Parts: sequence; structure tokens; C-alpha cells
Amino acid sequence: MSIEIPHGLTDLLQGYTVEVLRKRPADLVEFAIQYFTRLKENRERDGAGGGLKTLTKGVNFESESMQTEPNGDEEEDEDDDDSDFEPPVINRLGRRVSVCAEAFNPDDEEEDTEPKVVHPKTDEQRCRLQDACKDILLFKNLDQEQLSQVLDAMFERRVKPQEHVIDQGDDGDNFYVIERGLYDIFVTRDNQSHCVGRYDNRGSFGELALMYNTPRAATIVATTEGALWGLDRVTFRRIILKNNAKKRRMYELFIESVPILKSLDVSERMKIVDVIGEKLYQDGERIIAQGDKADCFYIVESGEVKIMMKSKTKTGQESNQEVEIARCSRGQYFGELALVTNKPRAASAYAIGDVKCLVMDVQAFERLLGPCMDIMKRNITHYEEQLVALFGSSMDLTDPGN
Ligand code: CMP
Ligand code: CMP
Repeated sequence: MSIEIPHGLTDLLQGYTVEVLRKRPADLVEFAIQYFTRLKENRERDGAGGGLKTLTKGVNFESESMQTEPNGDEEEDEDDDDSDFEPPVINRLGRRVSVCAEAFNPDDEEEDTEPKVVHPKTDEQRCRLQDACKDILLFKNLDQEQLSQVLDAMFERRVKPQEHVIDQGDDGDNFYVIERGLYDIFVTRDNQSHCVGRYDNRGSFGELALMYNTPRAATIVATTEGALWGLDRVTFRRIILKNNAKKRRMYELFIESVPILKSLDVSERMKIVDVIGEKLYQDGERIIAQGDKADCFYIVESGEVKIMMKSKTKTGQESNQEVEIARCSRGQYFGELALVTNKPRAASAYAIGDVKCLVMDVQAFERLLGPCMDIMKRNITHYEEQLVALFGSSMDLTDPGN
């Protein structure tokens, strides 16, 4: 019996294999979905006549995005599209090893002439994407043009319960923004896996391996059905890292002057700058609300923030009357208490005049601010003394029943 190999099959698989060898993606199936989706869209774009040409030519993830927008020299040699591709350093297990703990320096990068990745979206998808991205701290300092390039490049990914979105030790392929779903974070140390946290229907993950060119630092497992938006490594590095270099220049001196961060060394402080986002508030705007679930930590960059707490009656009942208990100005922090105690916000915070805050998510807070924790905990005992002085009764801020 003779088996007829369909026309184009060899080239089709060869094209995919070449891209796998170039990119060494962590997830071959996910990569195949992206690759063949892109191939199909290129074929549709080229029209029926272009089908075979596109099919045999394959797609190159940097040079032939889903839909490429020329951005610079269109005459560029097809094979010369590799300027952003770094040959992976492979260890004996066949994994890329950590080649550099520092963020890359975008000033060393070549001019931004790569075609842009665009995943076409329906209006409904775009609305959901914009909603999911509105509080993403890594996107906060992007300008309009950069943000729209990021949103264009993002693609939807649905996940099932128990699905591993990321495995610790793998190479980084995408950064993810959560639209919905619960995701557990596991870190393996000394051969033991520890659940170190959870994403609850918001937030983002997968930035570290892309920023620092290191293996994935944690395993992320969906515990419910979920929806994510992915951003490919090349676009992430081109836009987010370029912006991070600007952030480092902007905030370096300020971060050095923040008292609570004094115990950190320079590289630890720079890692903070890499993941913070700047948020602006107008006079009177509520920044956090007493009783809310907490997922961020704040450092005041400019302006003043008023901390207000609902007073309690003698019988211990909460009244709606708010009492000012503290003010925070440039260089001071707030919003750490709920993250440390794992409780709702103990007080509300309001902007006095225009306020700029640097904001960090709870995962970064736990990962990066360990060395500052003793001082923070000591300051929390001062809060308690202060509340006794104000309300006359003791309030155990760290008591989970409170
Ligand atoms: P990355 O290393 O690319 O992939 C795993 C991701 O888990 C990591 O980026 C972070 O975004 C996220 N993460 C959340 N908590 C932690 C943690 N404690 N240590 C390392 N990574 C974490
Ligand atoms: P958090 O509970 O997360 O949100 C409200 C914040 O107000 C709290 O963290 C502290 O950072 C800040 N705060 C300032 N003074 C006090 C105080 N006396 N008691 C509680 N919170 C205070």
C-alpha cells in the first residue's frame, strides 16, 4: 500500500519545526496554535492565490506577525529578521539557563524596525481586553501609542481547571493578563513545592522571565476555568522593557530616598522600579476604602494622602463618621497593613490635592519587600498605640477576628 503525502505537508511541518528551534517555546501546543493561526491569517490576507506561497514559506514570528505593519525598512532581507532573537544558552537538561539577572538595556537595542504583531479582535474582545488591562501596573507608564501596540499584540487564551499556564524552570514565552479565573502560584524550593499565593480574577503574571531573561520563577496553575490575554515575548521586550529603562531613569533618585526601602541594595531597588506603576489621583479621590479586599501597596511620590478610619462607639460598633488618623507625604507608604495581615483595609485613604503614587501588587510586595518587613511590622505596633490614643480602646490590627 502506498501512502501519499499531501502536497505541502513537509514544508508545513518543517516551517513549524524551524520556528520551534529558533524560539524554543515552553509550550509546544500553545506555540503550534499561535503559529498555525498566524499562518492561516497570512494565507487569508494573501488571498487564495497566496495560499500555497504562504504555506510553503511558513511564518516567522518576528518578521511575519499575524498581520504585519511595516515599520521602517520594508526592503529588509527576510533572513535578517533576527535582530531581536537571542540564541538560548542551553544547560544539560536542555533548558535555557539564566543568562543575565539584569534587565536588558534597550538603549543597546537596534532601531525599532521590526514589524509589529497584531492579533485582530472583534469589538467585544477589545472591550474585554481593555477592561482586563485597565489596572495592570506594568502598562501604567506607557504612552498612548505604546499601549495601543500592546493591546493590538495581545491574544486570548482560555484555560481549564488544573491547567498549568506556566511551569517553573521553563523558558518565558508570554506575559499574561488575567481576565477571569483563579490561579495558584507555586514555588519549588529544596524539591518542595509551596503555594505562595493566588491570583483572584485580576492581575498579571509571567513578566520576570521576559524581563530578566531567566527561567520561569514559579508555576501558575488555574484552579477554575479562566480567560487570559497573552503578550508575546518580543513585543513585551520591545515595549515594556524600553519603558522600564525610562522608569529606572525617572524614579532612581526618588526610590533611593524612600526611607522604608533603605535596607535594600541598588539591584533590589531597581527590581521594584521595574514592576511599579504610577497612579494619579485628584483632590478628594478615594485611593483605598476601609473594609475592601487588598491587593496593592502604595508609596506617595507627590502630594499628600489622608488616612481616615471609621470611628467606633463605646460599645465597639462602627460609626459612619470618619476620623483622620494619619497623613502620608512624599516618600511615605501606606496600604501595607492589609497585605501583611491578610485582612481587609483597616482604613481609607484620600488624596489631598493632586497625588501621584507608585503602586506595587501584592505578589511583588511579598517577593521584593521581605528585607523591609521587620521595620513595617514595628511601625504597625505604632498604629495600634496611635489608635488607643485616638479612640481610647485597644484595637488589635493583626487579629484576624477584628
Ligand atoms: P515568571 O518568572 O516569568 O513566571 C512565573 C511568574 O509567577 C513570575 O514571572 C511572576 O509573574 C509570578 N509570581 C508570582 N509570585 C511569585 C513569586 N513569589 N516568585 C516568583 N514568581 C512569582
Ligand atoms: P491598610 O490596612 O492596607 O489600608 C489602610 C492603611 O492606612 C493601612 O494599611 C496603613 O498603611 C495606613 N494607616 C496609617 N495609620 C494607621 C493606623 N493607625 N491604623 C491602621 N492603618 C493605618
